[in-house]
Amino acid sequence: MADLTTSYLGFKLKNPIIAGSCNLTGSIDKIRELEDNGISAIVLKSIFEEQISMEIRSIGQDAMAHTEGYDYISQYTKQFNVEKYLNLIRDAKEKTDIPVIASINCISDGEWVSFAEKITSAGADALELNIFLLPGDFKKEADTIEKSYFDIIKAVSNQTNIPVSVKISSYFTALANTIFRISLSGVSGIVLFNRFFQPDIDIENMEVVAADIYSTRRENSHPLRWIGMLSDNAKCDLVASTGVHEGEDVLKNILVGAKAVQVVSSIYKNGPLHIKKMLDDLNILMDKKSFFSISDITGKLSQKNIENPEIFERVQFMKYYANS
Ligand SMILES: Cc1cc2nc3c(=O)[nH]c(=O)nc-3n(C[C@H](O)[C@H](O)[C@H](O)COP(=O)(O)O)c2cc1C
Repeated sequence: MADLTTSYLGFKLKNPIIAGSCNLTGSIDKIRELEDNGISAIVLKSIFEEQISMEIRSIGQDAMAHTEGYDYISQYTKQFNVEKYLNLIRDAKEKTDIPVIASINCISDGEWVSFAEKITSAGADALELNIFLLPGDFKKEADTIEKSYFDIIKAVSNQTNIPVSVKISSYFTALANTIFRISLSGVSGIVLFNRFFQPDIDIENMEVVAADIYSTRRENSHPLRWIGMLSDNAKCDLVASTGVHEGEDVLKNILVGAKAVQVVSSIYKNGPLHIKKMLDDLNILMDKKSFFSISDITGKLSQKNIENPEIFERVQFMKYYANS
């Protein structure tokens, strides 16, 4: 059997399959079930910047009171407040033997960043920042939006000495350049990419509704391309997220240079036992290809290491357009 160990954020992981942030990593029972089925690390369900800020500012006093946003956040805060989050970290550390990565959804470098210190004291091994500023404001230029990412990273890094990773979307004007600069900013890892709730249209009822919240395997080609193009030059670990459903997908992402993968939809769809199957399939594939270890093959098919590197950059279907 091949050696499946890998390193991510400075930790030695027993295999490259990490449970991504979601409700399945929001309770200790579910986390233990994931560990029992072979997951090598977990990213806890995210706490939101607004929740933290709200506690800091003492609920009910600020200008948001009685708005729809306020109601939503205060409801969420009651169910999943800051102290509960810290307890979840403590519990996960006490009751599991795998690295526990806390997660914060954030959009600014406001007062909430002091919370990074509490997360550290609670025992989290690392902190993943899920940063997303929807570039939907037509008055905001790319530079202004990008600067916010670096401000957040800097402010949080000043509050903690545990490894920090960032989870980003691909909505950047100059994606490769931005990821490269983020990799130089002191973070230990970048998660490519976040996947969002998307809108869909229910024609029958003439309503805007939520599209499918789970990914499909096909969506993995997006992070796969960018990890393949960036892993040779990035100065920190890259980890794949979105569309990793099977053992074969894990291997593909490792081959283009990911240090590990994060899995969410596949666990929702197939149950935690599926992690075992993914690991079995990964082992079988490694043996079949005579791959001795994950570290030997990480990046074997990155852009620098293949004969036709332009394949990663080909975006137009010229061959198909020309012949059809
Ligand atoms: C039900 C659900 C809840 C999620 N909650 C979070 C969250 O709290 N924080 C976060 O960073 N990502 C969250 N995500 C996004 C996932 O971590 C992941 O990035 C995304 O689902 C793509 O991975 P997948 O293709 O394996 O599902 C959630 C996804 C789902 C489906």
